[in-house]
Amino acid sequence: MAKLTVRDLDVRGKRVFMRVDYNVPLEEKDGQMVITDATRIVETLPTLKLLIERGGKLILTAHLGRPKGKREATMSLKPVAGKLSELLGKRVGFVDDCIGENVDTAVAGMKNGDVLLLENVRYYNEEEKNDPAFAEKLAKVADVYVNDAFGAAHRAHASTEGVARVVAKRGGKCAAGLLMERELKFLGDELDNPARPFVVILGGAKVSDKIKVIDRLLDKADTILIGGAMAYTFRLAQGYKTGKSLVEPDAIDTAKSALAKAKAKNVKFLLPCDDVIATPVKTDKLDKKGKPVIEFQNPTTNGDMNCPDNAAGLDIGPATVMAYAAELLTAKTILWNGPMGLFENKQFASGTNAIAQAVADATQKRGAKSIIGGGDSVKALNKAKLGDKVTFMSTGGGASPASRR
Ligand code: 3PG
Ligand code: MG
Repeated sequence: MAKLTVRDLDVRGKRVFMRVDYNVPLEEKDGQMVITDATRIVETLPTLKLLIERGGKLILTAHLGRPKGKREATMSLKPVAGKLSELLGKRVGFVDDCIGENVDTAVAGMKNGDVLLLENVRYYNEEEKNDPAFAEKLAKVADVYVNDAFGAAHRAHASTEGVARVVAKRGGKCAAGLLMERELKFLGDELDNPARPFVVILGGAKVSDKIKVIDRLLDKADTILIGGAMAYTFRLAQGYKTGKSLVEPDAIDTAKSALAKAKAKNVKFLLPCDDVIATPVKTDKLDKKGKPVIEFQNPTTNGDMNCPDNAAGLDIGPATVMAYAAELLTAKTILWNGPMGLFENKQFASGTNAIAQAVADATQKRGAKSIIGGGDSVKALNKAKLGDKVTFMSTGGGASPASRR
């Protein structure tokens, strides 16, 4: 981690190579990819404005999705350039590559205060491998390196780590952006010493993605509330039937040891006591990736811990919402990471929306500190127009300190 911040840099006339996390959620609308939550872009504006004011030439690099070294059209950063230009109120150039001649030409034409966004670095496999030769190619247009990609800070990739090394070796300055600084300060302080009760809400699809977070939080939290598809891996671990719900059989042992640790540590560990289930049916329609669109038929509330064979669990049920809201009512610190169900689909958004409301109420009416991590939880809060009713929205998911240590 760089010790300098952008405040300490003299960037006038210099090429500032800046890594940002613009891995934003996108949805296909009428054949176009549309950004559904721009939080990660908005949060970088203070750093960008400072560097523009100081006369730097800003070259922004980022990843989108996991294209695994291929030019995946749905994962282009082009729509992000448009959105950024709108938010900054100035032109943002875009190059359809992150290295090579086109980049060199565009950069050569830049004036002080200009902004240029480069295409998805993950169109190259070398990015995730942190390939030194690739880092050299990226660094070709860098006099100074700035890292403001908090959400990707847990990855040692060419654009997050390799380039910094190349620039530093040449005697160039490397610094953290203002977003990076703010995230580390806020999350570090609040989560190291939380006011109690400290209630954690964890959702999302996978236990395996969150296991480090769960393990660490079991040392810190008083209560953990589980939702989302990961709840079904826990149910599987408890011997229940999960039907067609999304489960990770490989993570059963992990789930079992989390349950055992919660017991040993006296952490209240709540799993859903009811849910909303529906029958998944493949339609003839194909999505942009050529996969059949799945329709969920006959959504019903299910109070049985077993899921019928032909159904999938897609949201927490009303009794679970009540139980979780009661826990949130007494919380002094709340950490929320991951949605409670398939909230992008209106039929399965009630659980996530109710939790969003309960977190907002705990913050506004009872003075709890609420920290929201993870792109999807932030998106859900913004969708419910509750984004300004919580204490802090982090742009990181896997990058939050709780999961990194
Ligand atoms: C994220 O959204 O979690 C970050 O942008 C990192 O992306 P990754 O998990 O694909 O590395
Ligand atoms: Mg991630």
